[in-house]
Amino acid sequence: MPVISAPHDFNEGHLFVDLKSIFGCPLYLKCEGFNFAGSIKLKAANEMVESAERDGILKPESVIVESSSGNLGVALSMISASKGYRFLCVTDSRCNLSTRLLMEALGSQVHIVADPDENGGFLGTRIEYVRSLCASDRRYVWLSQYTNEGNWRAHYRTTAQQIARHFPRLDVLFIGTGTAGTLMGCARYFRQWHRPVRIVAVDSVGSVAFGGEPGRRMIPGLGMSMRPPLLDESYVNEVVHVEEAETIRTCHRMARRGFLFGGSTGTVVSGATDWLSRHDARDITAVAIAPDLGERYLDTIYQSNWLQDLYGDQIFEPEQMTATIQTEEPEPRARVRRPQP
Ligand SMILES: Cc1ncc(COP(=O)(O)O)c(C=O)c1O
Repeated sequence: MPVISAPHDFNEGHLFVDLKSIFGCPLYLKCEGFNFAGSIKLKAANEMVESAERDGILKPESVIVESSSGNLGVALSMISASKGYRFLCVTDSRCNLSTRLLMEALGSQVHIVADPDENGGFLGTRIEYVRSLCASDRRYVWLSQYTNEGNWRAHYRTTAQQIARHFPRLDVLFIGTGTAGTLMGCARYFRQWHRPVRIVAVDSVGSVAFGGEPGRRMIPGLGMSMRPPLLDESYVNEVVHVEEAETIRTCHRMARRGFLFGGSTGTVVSGATDWLSRHDARDITAVAIAPDLGERYLDTIYQSNWLQDLYGDQIFEPEQMTATIQTEEPEPRARVRRPQP
């Protein structure tokens, strides 16, 4: 029976879902959403805060500031509340309303930038704002998840070892890429392992993390509007890009079987099942990582009007839908719900 006194002391690290009965291919999904921050980013947040404390960078009067699409912000809000730091999250209009409310409920301040950067994303604008804050007052401490070595080290020490322990004959690992912290921590660990493991990075179409053309991306978490500074492509065997419409179909397919996951899980699973369908997967041991669960996406990925407005009527056959059923007189254009700023 685990008994804890700090919220970050609990993190379920040994839960895997066998997806074979849903997708018909051998794929185990490592679930990272079962902790009080609700996502994989608790690991990076913990590691970065603890190392800043060890290095004397964080002091009682410090104000932690970070750019986050949401999940790291929630994790830092929780840790800051527990340890008595103030925290300011700089995010953008794609951040889910529920994620923003969570951060505020935990006592954090949330700043939302609205102007896109030159790649059409918001990252450049968010970072510029963080830099200006840090220049204005020495109490601000920017952990900088994009460059902080603790971000990948957290996964080298935990996520990768948990997978290795349960899958000693692992052949291929599918990892979604945002900052590339999860990717680089796992890839570095398995490079030194006793047998070769194929590392497949999964990214969303429109992200420029691995090059390519920038494009519209509405699902937070995966994808970057710049090359992730932590990324070292020499550790990556393959990159798979997934369209957001495919991400959404995959999320709904899992939801119809009772597994409500977040958007980036849909992306990673979609990339993984596509890869497995193109290979002889009979004897392959394959694992994918699910960064969070679905509750934070109820007003976006699992909301029919949001989906129709952004992706059109053709995204699903009617029987494939797992989203709010409209019961009133339909006025689709007027009733569209967008992610709240
Ligand atoms: C839901 C979700 N999926 C995936 C990622 C990407 O993880 P990483 O930053 O380790 O590449 C994030 C990062 O914020 C996330 O919030």
